[in-house]
Amino acid sequence: MTDQDLHQEGGIAAKPTSASRTTLSHIMTGNDTNLLGSVHGGVIMKLVDDAAGAVAGRHSGGPAVTASMDEMVFLEPVRVGDLVHVRAQVNWTGRSSMEVGVRVMAERWNESTPAQQVGTAYLVFAAVDGEGRPRPVPQVVPETERDRRRYQEAQIRRTHRLARRRAIKELREKRAAEGLDED
Ligand SMILES: CC(C)(COP(=O)(O)OP(=O)(O)OC[C@H]1O[C@@H](n2cnc3c(N)ncnc32)[C@H](O)[C@@H]1OP(=O)(O)O)[C@@H](O)C(=O)NCCC(=O)NCCS
Repeated sequence: MTDQDLHQEGGIAAKPTSASRTTLSHIMTGNDTNLLGSVHGGVIMKLVDDAAGAVAGRHSGGPAVTASMDEMVFLEPVRVGDLVHVRAQVNWTGRSSMEVGVRVMAERWNESTPAQQVGTAYLVFAAVDGEGRPRPVPQVVPETERDRRRYQEAQIRRTHRLARRRAIKELREKRAAEGLDED
């Protein structure tokens, strides 16, 4: 049974990508810098998690928690004064999880040039109920060719995440059974 088959058993109305897509904008200040004077990566990661969380909450219609954050890539430094735009959308949905794709753009404070892409990230959120247990999410409906490409790429990442997790779990169980790793 596929993820989609499992999902559709829940009978929740699907939602288009555009229903929850959002952009969070923030001006970088002196409080956001690292020792080199550019913006600390952790500050950007917080904005990424905030924007992705907002999208996951909107798509799933309730609370959603970050399950994983992977492929956070910093392409260019962000500087004090830059106006950062963090664009997020649901790329893919499973039964209770959603992959949110995030693109980070920076408008340079001292240049009249278009916003430059400075980072990307992919996060998995799990929708949870009041007790923190996973709950079903609406299926996302990609609307454009770009959305469909992102959906397909997200499925590839999902397959790799599950395979990696399973392989590491099996290795640890094997080593534990052999009495290794006891230090
Ligand atoms: C995320 C969490 C709810 C998953 O709970 P769980 O009991 O492992 O539940 P499940 O195994 O059913 O996982 C739920 C979904 O999340 C996905 N998931 C869980 N852990 C994942 C991970 N590390 N990476 C990617 N997906 C993950 C599962 O594949 C499943 O997806 P699906 O329902 O679409 O198939 C739980 O681990 C949790 O509460 N973690 C803490 C989250 C948190 O506090 N985040 C903020 C950090 S400060």
